[in-house]
Amino acid sequence: MTTTEIAPLTGLSEAQVGALRLDFPLLARSVNGSALAYLDTGATSQKPRVVLDAERDYYEQRNAAVHRGAHTLAAEATDRFEDARGTVARFVGADDDEIVWTSNATEGLNLVAYALSNATAGRGGAEAEQFRLHAGDEIVVTELEHHANLIPWQELAVRTGATLRYIPVDDDGAWQLDAAATVIGGRTRVVALSHVSNVIGVVNPVEQLIRRAHAVGAIVVLDACQSVPHLAVDVHALDVDFAAFSGHKMLGPTGVGVLYGRRDLLNALPPFLTGGSMITTVTMESAEYLPAPQRFEAGTQRVSQVVALAAAVDYLTAIGMDRIAAREAYLGQLLVRRLGELPHVRVLGPQHSALRVGLASFDLAGVHAHDLGQFLDDRGIAVRVGHHCAQPLHRRLGIVASTRASTYLYTTVDEIDRLVEGVTAAADFFGAGT
Ligand code: ALA
Repeated sequence: MTTTEIAPLTGLSEAQVGALRLDFPLLARSVNGSALAYLDTGATSQKPRVVLDAERDYYEQRNAAVHRGAHTLAAEATDRFEDARGTVARFVGADDDEIVWTSNATEGLNLVAYALSNATAGRGGAEAEQFRLHAGDEIVVTELEHHANLIPWQELAVRTGATLRYIPVDDDGAWQLDAAATVIGGRTRVVALSHVSNVIGVVNPVEQLIRRAHAVGAIVVLDACQSVPHLAVDVHALDVDFAAFSGHKMLGPTGVGVLYGRRDLLNALPPFLTGGSMITTVTMESAEYLPAPQRFEAGTQRVSQVVALAAAVDYLTAIGMDRIAAREAYLGQLLVRRLGELPHVRVLGPQHSALRVGLASFDLAGVHAHDLGQFLDDRGIAVRVGHHCAQPLHRRLGIVASTRASTYLYTTVDEIDRLVEGVTAAADFFGAGT
């Protein structure tokens, strides 16, 4: 049980959250006879009306393929598509041509891994030589990675003969930074790490590892899925080489993700997917590629999703990422404290952390997470249960599954109260700890 006081609520008041919730149609529905308490934004966020309207307006007024038509609709669609790139670039401190549209963060991470193995296979000419991996080279990940930032690197190692190494975590799920100093060394070519763990919710000390990686000449790939939606992130200030995140976790639609890449690196990388719209000249024998970002955007693009993602970013920007982060830091600490006070509950990760987003996972002793999730769902409370695509981390923490509550700018303190009441009732119902 913890007694430490948490910082006061700042950023957005309950009244302000109550007002902005009216922008989200889905939050008004009931589930199993109770008002919905949506605590699963870590998996996907709900959407404000401006995002739904942006996608509908696009299809009703401007639908056309971008970068290939000579007609007015094509020009309007292309303008909106490229304006959206600028909006997202500014949101994360990048330049416009450093933003590549993908389907989601998983595709962005795979894009980098496949481009590196294409370079290793000799594709991309002299400028891609810098990316060639050799047997004995090392790719470094950490023990808390989501599978999307682990398996692509396992596969890259298999394809290239490189060795995968990892930075272990301690019993709290925190990176063992002392070990990092030896794991990242002269053979390291790539370091792939999460900005915020999708299980623990703590903002990882990435700056240290980024500096270390660059000191040995390695490329840094950041999984920013759980940070960009919740914090003000500046990829240039962080000095990462690549960063991937998903639109659907930040009020945008599914089907669109973002890969940030440093301009010089993107323009030297061979492509991953090939086809129309990413070339300059094609003969029956070969093709020459456009510069980034187009060289990574083969085929007809996901224009409606891109346009709607820009609307989501405008919405977040109007509210202010600093205010959102401040509120969520409070909600995250509240989750950890309130859940941590309950008998038989073990909250994963550090109990008190300077910086966390509004996400916490926990184990209720003797009660399977799926049973708990169903019990909470009967009360209208939506949480995620299972291993959250992070099996190695769960194994390290000595459990097979956990229950995760995750918040966003629309989450109320009342919803957290309901979660705590629900877990308390479930502990009685299932006889937790016995
Ligand atoms: N990566 C998402 C999550 O953690 C799907 O729930």
